[in-house]
Amino acid sequence: MTFFGVRGDRAARAARAASANGVFASTLALLAAIAAGAPACSSTHLDPVSADAAVPACDSTRTHPPDVGTFSIDAALPDVAFTALAADSARADFTLHERYLPCRTEPKFLVLRIGATWCEPCRIAAASTSKWRGLEPAGSVEVIDVLLANAEQQVPTAADLAAWRVHSDADVVASTAERRWFALDTAPNHMPYTVIVEKRSMHVVGLGHGWGWQEYPQRLGALFARYKKPNPWSSFVPPALHDGLFDESEWAVIEGMAWHGEPVDEPSNRVATSPQAAELGRRLFFDETFSSNGAVSCASCHAPEKNFGDDRPQSLGLAKVDRHAPNVALASYKHAQFWDGRADSLWMQALGPLENAKEMGSSRGTVVGRVAASYRAAYEAVFGTMPALSTDARLVNAMPGTVAWDALATDEKRTVTGIFVNIGKSIAAYERTLRVRENALDRYARGDVTALTDPERKGLAGFLHAGCTQCHAGPRLTDDAYHVLRFPTGRQDGLADRGRIDAFALLEGSEFNGAGVWSDSPMALALPADRDRLLGAFKTPTLRGIASRGQFGHGGTLATIEDVAKHYSERGLKDSDAKAVGTVDAWVPEFDTGLRDSLVPFLKVLKGDSVDSLAPP
Ligand code: HEC
Ligand code: HEC
Repeated sequence: MTFFGVRGDRAARAARAASANGVFASTLALLAAIAAGAPACSSTHLDPVSADAAVPACDSTRTHPPDVGTFSIDAALPDVAFTALAADSARADFTLHERYLPCRTEPKFLVLRIGATWCEPCRIAAASTSKWRGLEPAGSVEVIDVLLANAEQQVPTAADLAAWRVHSDADVVASTAERRWFALDTAPNHMPYTVIVEKRSMHVVGLGHGWGWQEYPQRLGALFARYKKPNPWSSFVPPALHDGLFDESEWAVIEGMAWHGEPVDEPSNRVATSPQAAELGRRLFFDETFSSNGAVSCASCHAPEKNFGDDRPQSLGLAKVDRHAPNVALASYKHAQFWDGRADSLWMQALGPLENAKEMGSSRGTVVGRVAASYRAAYEAVFGTMPALSTDARLVNAMPGTVAWDALATDEKRTVTGIFVNIGKSIAAYERTLRVRENALDRYARGDVTALTDPERKGLAGFLHAGCTQCHAGPRLTDDAYHVLRFPTGRQDGLADRGRIDAFALLEGSEFNGAGVWSDSPMALALPADRDRLLGAFKTPTLRGIASRGQFGHGGTLATIEDVAKHYSERGLKDSDAKAVGTVDAWVPEFDTGLRDSLVPFLKVLKGDSVDSLAPP
């Protein structure tokens, strides 16, 4: 059966559990409401057990009840240890059994909001706590944000917790290294999950996902009533829906999508914001003479008329590459470049294609020789006098690993590489000037409710309800995190693409990384410890611009937006597929064809027409 538009084993189990617990009728009512167009993402099971029966006799030994290995109604919560920060940011580490209060007379509720650092609806939930707190008797409700993962799918660090603390109104912000919390059974499973526990039994008395803030006073109020206590929120009236569709939390996510922001600071590039460097960079970006066949420039695969992308599944330079060319108009808004993030700056990225045999097939010696011959004045206006160089003949084809390179003196190698790096920094300065035009979603998010048609608004609702905004939110519709989705590979050799896990060696091994001598502000590389989690992971791409192109995913193998929606509804390549690599993130939604089809009109709104302000009129 379908359950809140989500299907599969988890949903079936949840439906069975709900039915066994006597909340089936309310599920049906909710399904009816969904059919009538109401928001669909507030699954819940309210405590079906008699409140009294759930509270055991006072047990002063305070042993945490045995866990049953799931998050399910009336089961004890698994006891795990947390690293935590209290409201004043003081360290407040605890183990769950310390919250067990078997001898209390009054009910006490522990509200665990389970999310991840990159999850936008989780962030909105955390920031909205104070909207519903305060009416409850002092000490009767404790709210803990539990963060399961950071952008590299690692256990959140102290810095991650501190960053979350800044905007969360929770009592405690916590993370746990206990991986089994990932596997706990929640359905439908997108974040934030809310688990409400009664502290005298440590039994789960409420469970749900995607709750807007207004849901908490309603759920908790009902629980107080069930425990025969006055409902502190009895006079609470939920705010009206925005545009008849979106609760306040959902609307906050939508507002956050309106275009805003600036490129990230790139201290490793001292000319990042230099207009002369950008002018020079623009000329270099379009120059085909750098390539070994004289026909390939950056713009061959990142064409302005194609939103700085191309329309091939996998790009074609001197040969076909293994991945799809992303639109680069918004690349300067993030630090990590490429689908696997193997470049940590735009200038480092720009140096790759020049020396890549399949892309431009050139060498730093050739490129530097050409810049010395054709761009000297523009170069010197930015970087000062160009040092003396060998003859062209000696420079041609010189790059590490070649005979020509070995023939150069050490000083000369350094000079050539220095100029090469400056070329990358100029191209990066140009890329920083690129922007995209506003689209209908921007107008809608700014309050013009006529900007989207009915199917588009419903598609946006589906986009929220399916959990897409966990990862695709904010002005670029990306969380800049790495996830395993098992999109099909585009590798020419037919092998699986291992994604992020293979990026670290390339980043660490490159002399052009942010920690190296060519960085204008060397910084230690932030590398995750548990890299196995990133097998098959790719960086969430911006969705701005998808409406005006085909070929999706890192491999470029999903031809249409419909194919992408279908791929999501099936949660990626099957285990049996030889090219399936990694384990699909637990929070990737699985849904039925109804929801799948409803998403498409919204995805087609996501235009991202690029603006090149430096283009000659
Ligand atoms: C042969 C086609 C081709 C050429 C030529 C090419 N690129 Fe790319 N570009 C790609 C592909 C394919 C990717 C994705 C590769 C990957 O992730 O492994 C990419 C990725 C990028 C990215 C990362 C964007 C992101 O969102 O992660 C930037 C920026 C970029 N290219 C800029 C450039 C610049 C600057 C040049 C010229 C120096 C250039 N490209 C030349 C095909 C090309
Ligand atoms: C867990 C995070 C996550 C969730 C949830 C998620 N996405 Fe994605 N999305 C990604 C990542 C990562 C990629 C790149 C995957 C790849 O190429 O391997 C991606 C790629 C895409 C693309 C292709 C974009 C391009 O430039 O090729 C589209 C379209 C898309 N997602 C739409 C959706 C929709 C619709 C939903 C909800 C049903 C959704 N996403 C849910 C992380 C997520």
